[in-house]
Amino acid sequence: MNSINNGYSYLKVCLGTWRMGGEITPNPNNNDQKDIDAIRYAINKGISHIDTSESYAGGKSELLIGEAIKHISRDKCFIATKVREYNLFYDNVINSCKESIKRLDTPYIDLYYIHKQSLIVPIEETVGALNKLLDMGLIKNVGLSNVGIDIIKKYSQLLNSPLYAIQNQYNLVCRESQRKGIIYYCKRNGIHFIAWRPILLSYPGVVDSYYRTGTYKILDEMATKYNKTNTQIAAKWLLQQDGVSIVFKSSNKKHIDEILDVNKFKLSNRDWKRLNKEFPVQKELGCTVDNYFELS
Ligand SMILES: NC(=O)c1ccc[n+]([C@@H]2O[C@H](COP(=O)([O-])OP(=O)(O)OC[C@H]3O[C@@H](n4cnc5c(N)ncnc54)[C@H](OP(=O)(O)O)[C@@H]3O)[C@@H](O)[C@H]2O)c1
Repeated sequence: MNSINNGYSYLKVCLGTWRMGGEITPNPNNNDQKDIDAIRYAINKGISHIDTSESYAGGKSELLIGEAIKHISRDKCFIATKVREYNLFYDNVINSCKESIKRLDTPYIDLYYIHKQSLIVPIEETVGALNKLLDMGLIKNVGLSNVGIDIIKKYSQLLNSPLYAIQNQYNLVCRESQRKGIIYYCKRNGIHFIAWRPILLSYPGVVDSYYRTGTYKILDEMATKYNKTNTQIAAKWLLQQDGVSIVFKSSNKKHIDEILDVNKFKLSNRDWKRLNKEFPVQKELGCTVDNYFELS
């Protein structure tokens, strides 16, 4: 359990909601109840930090979260959402935030991220809106996603509140945040580092899912040694790092339990280092550069 300076405490594990309710647009055939139940289940198990974006399922993911937390005391959950790079002009940020609040059916957002940088809107303009939202009490904290150290520094200088979290892709395959010193920078500056896609979805020709045995020999070997699943080993490699939290998605209670179970074992230092060194790291995925576009 980690304590954080605004009084919340949380597990180093957050629940993501990309692909809950649909993908880019709402999926009318989605099993909404299953997603709602998974969110409630996670919160009841202590995963109070729920992550979404205005763009997930075209806003439906936020609606599902709103429904899931309706009967849960607001101070028992920590809701993070994001404003997209095409909504970063002043008025658009304010409007996006108010729309997210409506869909989430909540008086405020605990953590409001810039999902990705805009190539055209000056940071000063976006920060002006974020400072206004902080003043209005509509957002409690600000985060950035898919960024490097220069951008983090720039926001830190302009914001009226300390940056709360950086959310970058980080897993055994994609190590850009480690290599570029972003995790170290966050740790030194009291900023949470949250690793997205810890389990990995499959992108043909790019990478494959950790949870499939036979993909990465070293994971299979460690899973056998620790009597855990490959996914648990991959998640543990992240969670054993000081200052690193994960945001994973699951609509499956058994999978949520599996991730929570990761808190109950430890990789030996030697095995952690072996994974760090010997895992076949993917080529640069470019997650923190300005023109990075998600692979999905
Ligand atoms: N900031 C950004 O730009 C950005 C980009 C991408 C994602 N994210 C955030 O990060 C979250 C996580 O990323 P992600 O959803 O792309 O990938 P992920 O969490 O690494 O992988 C999700 C997949 O893993 C499966 N899964 C979960 N737990 C499992 C387990 N114990 N065993 C086997 N399979 C398991 C899920 O299926 P089931 O549902 O069936 O369990 C789902 O198919 C997102 O939901 C989103 O909130 C942020």
